[in-house]
Amino acid sequence: MLVDLIVHGAARLVTCASSGGPKRGAAMREVGSLAGGALAVKDGRIVAVGETSEVLAQYEAAEMVDASGRAVCPGFVDAHTHLVYAGERLDEFEMRIQGKSYQEIMLAGGGILNTVRQTRGASPDQLINQSAARLATMLELGTTTAEVKTGYGLDTASELKMLLVIEKLARQQSVELIPTFLGAHSVPPEYRGRTGEYARLVIEEMLPAVADWYARSDFAAQAKPCFIDVFCEEGVFDADLTRQILQAGKGCGLALKAHVDEFVAMGGTTVGIDLGAISLDHLDHTPPTEMAHLAASPTVAVIIPAVNFNLGSPEFAGARAMVDSGVAVALATDLNPGSAPCPSLPLVMAIACRYQGLLPAETLNAITINAAHAIAMGDKIGSLEVGKQADFIILEVADYRHLAYQFGVNLVQQVFKRGRRVV
Ligand code: NIG
Ligand code: FE
Repeated sequence: MLVDLIVHGAARLVTCASSGGPKRGAAMREVGSLAGGALAVKDGRIVAVGETSEVLAQYEAAEMVDASGRAVCPGFVDAHTHLVYAGERLDEFEMRIQGKSYQEIMLAGGGILNTVRQTRGASPDQLINQSAARLATMLELGTTTAEVKTGYGLDTASELKMLLVIEKLARQQSVELIPTFLGAHSVPPEYRGRTGEYARLVIEEMLPAVADWYARSDFAAQAKPCFIDVFCEEGVFDADLTRQILQAGKGCGLALKAHVDEFVAMGGTTVGIDLGAISLDHLDHTPPTEMAHLAASPTVAVIIPAVNFNLGSPEFAGARAMVDSGVAVALATDLNPGSAPCPSLPLVMAIACRYQGLLPAETLNAITINAAHAIAMGDKIGSLEVGKQADFIILEVADYRHLAYQFGVNLVQQVFKRGRRVV
């Protein structure tokens, strides 16, 4: 049979294949590695995965890619980013080095609100240009799909501006994007001290506008989800407001996510699970009872050690215990100008191995198949299986574990999105 592309002779073809949902427990240590593996691609989809001799006996292709001496892996999925923003926060970086905490800076009107001021003032083209440069870097580092949040607009017009920027970015470059409305990222200065009133604005004015945009967007046309997210945190949105906002989003057809327990446990984890959240993110301070609840639920835990590392914290989320207790764990960068100016999923793997006791295999599953499930795309991407999109990368090395073992280098040599070479 004639196909478009065959990748053959890989030292290791790492599939991260999973039957059905995200991987849990012992399955996280299995990456489905095939020595001398090959992959056949037609119309952007994988039509065969197997040993090179078997695949070459059945298929021929116009384009043949020799992967000998190298590992082939699924393209990485970054399940949590704040990719679209204007301006960096270098002064705050220095303030933190000199002893101020992330939360002190936030409560004094810096932090997220600093970026809100700059993002409100930026034109769509400025946001597109800055964000496209970041996406190009992510792609070179192996990321082929990314979730992208709004949340630096915090008024209806600016939040819609961010959504339109995400939609345009999705059209003009190769990283596939999934949008998330994060109007409840912070309380803007004009609503200072009136958090409840701002939550009403999010629910009554922003959400209907977002739902209307989504219904007519490319994302809905392509049967992709749009998420709603809330920063459930001390000094931001409490569990009750989080419940109200997520419930309203669900009523508008959005899928649910929340930032929970990043600095203080607020009860957001239980709220998210009860409402059927696809993922709950951060989980640094989640109490044991809520963690047990999470393990028994279909919700994916998105763990973000780049934030702890960036804030110079010696404490990390208990990802080892989460995996051992059966929580479906994914890892993400959280790329943003404050808590994680980091586009690199391999660096996240490296941190999670060293500070959270995860094995390289567990971290690879966490940035591929489980991350795909964390954005409700697990049936299309995240593993190298027949029928899925041909999103894959070829490393410079034969063993995928180098991705976590080495750091400060980029070991990704080639990147393919839907069977097309994009790096
Ligand atoms: O996930 N926690 C809230 N949002 C981001 C931080 C965004 C920022 O600092 O600009 C986070 O850590
Ligand atoms: Fe975040």
